[in-house]
This record gives sequence, structure tokens and C-alpha cells, in this order.
Amino acid sequence: MNYQELQEIWAKKYETVPSQLEKLKHIRSVATAFNTNIDAILKIKGSTLKKLIVENNIPINEIQDISISGFSRPSDVIIGIVKCFSRGIAEEWVTDDINIYSWMEENLGYNRLQMGGQAGIIANALALLGVKKVLAHTNSHPKLQAQQFLNLDNLFGFNDNGIPEKAVNISRETDIPLIHWIIEFDKGDSFQIGDKTFICPKSNRFIATYDPLNMKLVMNKGFINYLNTHKISYLLLSGFHPLLENNGGVDLVKNTIPVLRKWKKHNPNLIIHLEIASTQDIAVRKAIVKYIVPFVDSVGLNERETIDLLNILGKSDLASDIEKNTTSDRLFDALIFLKKLLNVKRIQLHMFGLYMTLQDHDFIHSAEQNLKGMMTAAVVSSSKAYNGELTQYGDAIKTLGLFVSQQSLNELSNLSGKLHEPDLLIKGICRVENYILSAVPTIIIDKPKTLVGMGDTISSVSLLAGC
Ligand code: GLC
Repeated sequence: MNYQELQEIWAKKYETVPSQLEKLKHIRSVATAFNTNIDAILKIKGSTLKKLIVENNIPINEIQDISISGFSRPSDVIIGIVKCFSRGIAEEWVTDDINIYSWMEENLGYNRLQMGGQAGIIANALALLGVKKVLAHTNSHPKLQAQQFLNLDNLFGFNDNGIPEKAVNISRETDIPLIHWIIEFDKGDSFQIGDKTFICPKSNRFIATYDPLNMKLVMNKGFINYLNTHKISYLLLSGFHPLLENNGGVDLVKNTIPVLRKWKKHNPNLIIHLEIASTQDIAVRKAIVKYIVPFVDSVGLNERETIDLLNILGKSDLASDIEKNTTSDRLFDALIFLKKLLNVKRIQLHMFGLYMTLQDHDFIHSAEQNLKGMMTAAVVSSSKAYNGELTQYGDAIKTLGLFVSQQSLNELSNLSGKLHEPDLLIKGICRVENYILSAVPTIIIDKPKTLVGMGDTISSVSLLAGC
């Protein structure tokens, strides 16, 4: 079968997306926790990056040192950007040093502010898509944060009295705004220092986060209490990734256990999805696996986060293999390993061009439904890449009707070859051991306006639109 035929087959399958989108409007209530913040978006060019390197006298060996993965001084921001730019990867480094924040304010600036944090981004997207009631956790909710919420009647935060209120109207005056720098760069951009040329192989981003509240996993009492007393349908969980071991991070992860236990006790049918997110601190990453994963039904992660998990779970060979060649067949080996080790009912990996989910037969949504959910997610997230941000319903479905990309079909074909399941290429579903795999080729936007928050949107829409 040639590409065009395959594209037609998948276009036919994607025709289900509008009816899946309708189903989202029947979901009663969803809560998103814990991290909501403000993102300062900056698109950086290779030439600007070069200027920063020269002006700050960063030695060439330092900008090539990929073992650095955190800040020790403000100008390390530049090292982080170059690391991600030259490898086309996404990383987030966190700090509680306000000098780094001030340095970025002075030296980088930004193009615009928008909603940030898994909890905030997902809340906006799901409320826009029409979920009946969306409750977002905010550990800081001053006016500037409120302004990042969409002006929607189904989108709530918690006010000073711990009562749900339309998120955009809340102003917790004593809270401080939490601003993260999202530094995005484009594929093909380049710069030269001496005789070394740095070329960006893939559009991506580096996030520099100064966020004293999310770093302490401060929890809002109103939100905690709401989930102790109301039965919501889904909880989309994230926000452990800014924690650091030397900042009490492991204990903060552990402190979440009684909170989750109580929510589950009140609402045993609550479905919890955990978005792994880029967690640089190894002790915290291990603690998430040990203490949080046992509470969750579903896990979502991207290629990079997969590599990070493999590295702490005794699979560094596979991790470096994937790092060298990030293809669907290798990532599938990781997926099945993680499915078994994490022992969750459902795990979804989203890579460039392909989403794959491994699930148990008795997961609440069937694999067929999950496939439809993933196609819906592919439409919504590519629409987000196309638009830059989703602010109106029409923005979320802009790419409806576009063909899936050739690269996506290559990845799916690669996977079906590896599994000796030729039908996977046209059906998107097959059995693997005791599980069911569903995989969809996605729509790729060549010049995305933004990439931040893509993973969050993919994971949450895949799960919910698969209902
Ligand atoms: C992380 C960052 C946040 C960003 C989000 C996007 O949570 O801290 O700034 O909006 O990732 O996924």
C-alpha cells in the first residue's frame, strides 16, 4: 500500500473526531492539579543566541557540555538554551534563585504571556472543549494569573475563602505571580562560534523556571477539600517535576500520599492520570515512581521523559539507544517495559508523529475508544501548534480534515514491522502479550507557532475523548 492510500485510510478513521469532541461535552467534572503558572514565551533566533554567548563570555566547551542540567549561575540559562537548541530537545531547569529570574527579565525579555503549567494548560483546553465543569488547582492566583484563564463559565479556581469561583474572576491579592521562561527555537536555525556551527535539528524549547511555590508543592486547601467532598470524574495530575531533593522534594512527594489516599477513599471510581513531565532531579523522579504511580490509573509521557525514566529504572542501555535513534520500535520496548514495571492500567507515549497506548483489557475505556481519543488529541494539539494558543472553540479544530504526515506513517509502519502486525498500519490496534496496543499517526504542523503544552493537551484529550 502506498502513502496516499494509507493517508486516505487514516483520513477516514479521523472522521470520527467530531463525534468524540461531542462526547467531551458530556463529561461531568474534571480537576487538574497541581501546577499552574504564567509562561513568558520567547522565540529565540540563532543569531541572538550567539550574541548572548559572546556578550556573556561563555567558553565554547561550556556551551557544548551536555552533562549540565541545572543552574549554578544566571548565565547558565544560555547553556540550557544551547543544549536544547543544538539537539532539538526539550528540557526544563528549575531554580529558587531570584537572580536567575532577574537576569532573564533583563537580558531576554519575552514576546507574550500565556497560561502555563500542566494543570493550567489542561484546564483551559478541556473547558474550551466543553467539559461541563473544570476545576483548576492554583497555588497562586493573583490577577495576572487569573488573566491567563479563558473567560468561560465552566472553568473554576478557588478563591480566598476556598470556594470555587469562575477562574478568570479570582484575584488572590497577596499571591505572587509565578512566571516561567519558555524559550522556543526553530528547526534549521543555526549560529556559528569560531569554527563550530550549531544547527537546530528540531523545533523545541527550553524552560527556565523560577517558581518558589510550585517548587514547594504548595497545595490549595479549597481544592483539597473540594475533592474530599465531591465526586469528580477525572483527576489530571502533574506538578512534581519542579521539586528538588535538596529542597525537601522527596518529602514533598511523600506528603501527597495522604492527600491522594483521602480523595480516592471518598471517590473510589476517580480516574487519576499522571503526566510525568521533565523531572531533572533523579531522587524526585524515583520518588514519583515509588509513591505517586501506585495511585494512578494512567500515565502519560514523551520520548525524553521515557529516556529519563529508563535511566533510573536500570535500563540505561535502552535509554542511550533511544537517545541515539528515537524511533517507534525502540520506544515501544520502553513502553512495554514501563507498563510492566509501573504496573498501571494504561500508559501512553507521545512521540513526534505517533502516539501509542498500551492498556489492560479491563481499562475503563476500550482500546477502540482510546484510538478515537488519540485521533481527537492529534487534531486538537496540531491545531494548537498551528494557532499558537487555543482561545476559541474554532481554534481547537482547525486541522480537522488534514492528512496525517508521512513521517507519522513511517513510524507506525516501523512499529507494525517490529511487532509483525501488518494490520496495525491500517487498524491502529493489536494485541501485545496480555495488553492491547493502540497507535495513531498524527498530523504534523511544519512551522508550529508554539510547542509548549503540547504533551499536556495530547495526554488529557486522548484520555477524556476516549470515553
Ligand atoms: C512545565 C513548565 C510550565 C509549562 C509546562 C508545559 O510545567 O513549568 O511552565 O507551561 O511545563 O507543559
